[in-house]
Parts: sequence; structure tokens; C-alpha cells
Amino acid sequence: MAAADTNARTVADIMSHPVVSATADETVATAADRMREQSVGSVVVVDGDRAIGILTERDLVRLAAAGAASTDLVEQWMTRDPDSVAPDAEATAAFASLAEHGYRHIPVVDDGRLVGIVSMRDLMRIAQIQPAEQLAHEVPRGLEGVIVAETTIGDVRGLEGFYHYRQYNAVELAETRTLEDVWYLLFNGELPSLAERHAFADHIRPLREIPPAVLAALPEIVRTAPDAPPLDQLRTAVSLLGATLGFRPSLDLLAEELRAQALRVCAVVPTLLGALYRLQHGQTVVDPHPDLSYAANYLYMLQGTAPEEEHARAVEQYLISTIDHGFNASTFTARVITSTGADLAAAVVGGIGALSGPLHGTAPSRAKEMLDEIGTVDKAEPWIRDAIVQGGRLMGFGHRVYKTDDPRSVLLRSVAERLGGPKVDLAKEVEQVALELLAELKPGRKLYTNVEFYAGVVMDACGVPSEMFTPTFASSRTIGWTAHILEQAADNRLIRPSAQYVGPPPPQPVPTAE
Ligand code: ACO
Repeated sequence: MAAADTNARTVADIMSHPVVSATADETVATAADRMREQSVGSVVVVDGDRAIGILTERDLVRLAAAGAASTDLVEQWMTRDPDSVAPDAEATAAFASLAEHGYRHIPVVDDGRLVGIVSMRDLMRIAQIQPAEQLAHEVPRGLEGVIVAETTIGDVRGLEGFYHYRQYNAVELAETRTLEDVWYLLFNGELPSLAERHAFADHIRPLREIPPAVLAALPEIVRTAPDAPPLDQLRTAVSLLGATLGFRPSLDLLAEELRAQALRVCAVVPTLLGALYRLQHGQTVVDPHPDLSYAANYLYMLQGTAPEEEHARAVEQYLISTIDHGFNASTFTARVITSTGADLAAAVVGGIGALSGPLHGTAPSRAKEMLDEIGTVDKAEPWIRDAIVQGGRLMGFGHRVYKTDDPRSVLLRSVAERLGGPKVDLAKEVEQVALELLAELKPGRKLYTNVEFYAGVVMDACGVPSEMFTPTFASSRTIGWTAHILEQAADNRLIRPSAQYVGPPPPQPVPTAE
């Protein structure tokens, strides 16, 4: 730590003042606005000139995660009687207190009066203290709850069991709108009028065609890796698509050019999936059907015949429900790649890579395998108990953000019920057993059914083969990824965090090779 420079200074030398403050009876929304306007990470809560509390960015994260109302009062969320430091204390003392307690801000109090505030930022400014070294301890493993960007695309409220696209409840959109409408919403910020809906469909239709050079290469991809999961083949195909269409670094493109590429990729991914699946099964590729909508056309290109309406609608609802979901791992990956200025295909390929992990996107086929293995409801209890006791994870259960019902699983359960059938009945009974056993064997972890459990059930009932579950997910999520790519590129700063080095202390002498 390069803190030497702090030795000679007192807290009064480095503190910020006047202090940005709030009163206990203000709303948190007002206090948060003030923090944003003044670019500070906290407000000191005052009663006259006395500091009675502090409200920090971290408190705002907590209250957002709890789904708290913006009309909540500051006193409900502030930390009362915060530690303080005197103005004549050495700056190093302030630093020690910040580091020891994991604080980022300490009020400076002189004779009971608030006279300033010292933040980690003030100390780093004067001492060039490496942020990673001191702050890494504060960052939870897996970046849980850490806010890494601002977005207007949507959000997830984990404690409430609620998520939204733009300003609308995502479940309500899935219940009432078409996928194209929601795609339009994500790209344009508003739902289309009827005229806009038609114009959008006309614009998208030709973009669904696979470019001839890519189409010609697909059999080779399948021949070279015939047993590769379709998602891996899609990853390769999207990479080839970007190269073939001459995608250039997003840094060098106008917003309209990047948007045109995003629409092209979103439109063509279902066609690529249909083609790859059929080639892998020795069938001829089916061209997009000009009269079918996204979901119906997807099933048509996969199965070779126009789907039943209720299957097309069920898959459409699944697709809408999975378009976007906060800063999930694949969306974050796509944004990180875009932040380097890389081309759009590179970011989508990265998203597909992240989605291919069982902890993220490949759970639905595993959940289906679990249901197939269980087979009958009487086997559910011993099978699941054994799996959990052995340290296994039940696919389709648990979520990083949801600590209550995942609204997508609630929606898809109702879609599955509408479709009906013995597999749906079995899934519902297995779900109940799983929830009871998770509560018994993993108490306090708040493990509920996630989107993936009924995703597989719904897709299976609609004739989507299990190997295509995750690729189907990738298809809708491409819309979410690209919306985020456009947002990232429009207001970009390289995402480049730090790690805490925990290896042997350097520099060690470099040994000579023997
Ligand atoms: N089955 C059994 N135990 C579980 C499960 C599960 N599905 N999920 C979490 N746990 C347990 C963990 O073993 C751990 O227990 P411990 O405290 O005894 O060690 C505890 O719950 C906390 O688990 P974490 O791994 O810390 O939770 P995290 O937030 O990192 O994980 C995740 C979230 C990866 C989704 C996890 O719940 C999981 O592995 N689920 C199964 C895979 C799955 O369904 N993925 C799809 C997620 S939805 C999506 O990405 C679209």
C-alpha cells in the first residue's frame, strides 16, 4: 500500500466539505437523486448539525434488491450512529478505520458537529492506494449483488419475484404480446403500434435468410463435429456469420450500423439453429416461412411442418420470458466483450459460450434428464434425497437473485398445465418433492424452482428435442444480449476490474532453467 503520503496529513486536509446530507424523514428516492446529482457515494443523515446516520450506495443496492418502495424513508434504511473521525486525526487513522470496518465513507465530527466526510476516494486521491488491494475484500464472491453498470433495458427484483423489460412486467408481456413486439420494445424502448408492428415484421423477414456463404459452410461444421452439441455449432456459425458479413469493431461503427447488425443476428439465429439441427439429423434445410411469426417459424424450420397454434404460442411465451434477465452471466459477458470495442458477433459468441455452462443455460435438458430418470412419482423422494445428500445440484432449482418463486417458473408452470399430459403431471409432483427436500436438506438457502425446470417440460410438450432446449434459449437471449450490446456501445467505458493477488509474495528471484 502506498500510504506514506497520508502520514503528514490530517483528516481536515483531505476531507470533503460541505457534506452532502439528508434528513431522516426524506424519502430514499430523494436522497438517491441527490447522491447522483452530486456524484457522491453516500449522504450523511443530519439532525441540525449532528450526524445521526449515513445512507450509502450499498444501502441503495440492498433496498433495490429487497424491492423496497422509493417512498420508503431514509430512516428506514440508514445506518444509525455511524462511526466518525475527528478533523485533527491523522489521515492514516481514517484509512485504518475505513479498511478495518469495510466502510467507504466516514463522517468527520468536531465537538459533536458534522464538519466533513472522508471517503475511500479521498484517500486514494492523495495516496494512490491500489483500490483492488483494499476493496477486494468487500466484493462478494461471484460478484453477488455488485452493481457494475446502468441499464434501461430491464431488471430483476429477487426478493419480490419480479422482473421487467423496460417499464413493463415481463410476465405480463409474455401473457399478452408477441415476441416481435417485445423484441421491438427492447430495441426501441417502447411497444409498437399496429403499423409499427407490421413495418417491423416486414423489415425482419428478409433478415432471417442465412447468407449463402454461411449456408454453404454449415454442412462442413456439422461434418467436422457431428456429435458436438448444437449450441457449440451455433457458436461457430455465428462467428462465421460475423466474419462473412464483414462485422467491424463496434468502436468504429455508427449506432445505426451496429443496430442493423444486431437485427440481422437476432433474425438469423433461429434459421441457423433449424438448419444445423436438420443437417445433424441428415435432413434437408427448411427455409424460413414468410407468413409465420418468429416462434411458429422456428418450430417450422426445426420440424419441417407448420406447428399447432398452441405449441407455437407456448414456445413463444417461453421465448419472451427468457429474452432478458438483468446482468446474468452471458449478458455480462457480452457487455464486457463489447466494452473492448470488439465486433457484435464476438460479443454474441461470448454470450453463447457463457450460456453453455450447466449453472446457467444448459440446465433444462439436465432437468429433463432428471425427470426421465425419476420416471414415476414414487421414485422422486429417494432419487432427489440421494442426489442432494451426495452433494449434487438439482437442475432447475435455486437462483442467484431469486430468493422466492422465479416468476418465469410460475408462468411456465401455467403454460405447461395448459398443454397438459402425463409428463407435466409428473413434473409438478417432482417439483413439490424437490422443494420439500431442498427445504429440509438445505435449510435457509431459499431454493425455489427456476425458469429451467418447466422450460424443458414446455419445450418437450411442443416437440422441441431436448438437445435444442438451450439453443432455443440462446435464440431468444440473443435479442437481450444485442440490446445490451447496443446500450453498452452507446455509452462505453472499458470494463476492466481488478483481482486480489493471493499468490506467493513477489518479486521472487527468477530461477535459472536446469
Ligand atoms: N440443488 C441443491 N443445492 C443447491 C442448488 C440446487 N439446485 N442450488 C444451490 N444449492 C445449494 C448449494 O449447494 C449451497 O449449499 P451450501 O451452503 O451447503 O454449500 C447453497 O445452496 C448456495 O449455493 P450457491 O452455489 O452459493 O448459490 P449461487 O447463487 O452461486 O448459485 C445457481 C445459483 C448456480 C443457479 C445454483 O442454484 C445452481 O447450481 N442451480 C442448479 C443449476 C440451474 O438450475 N441453473 C439454471 C439457473 S437459471 C439460469 O441461469 C437461466
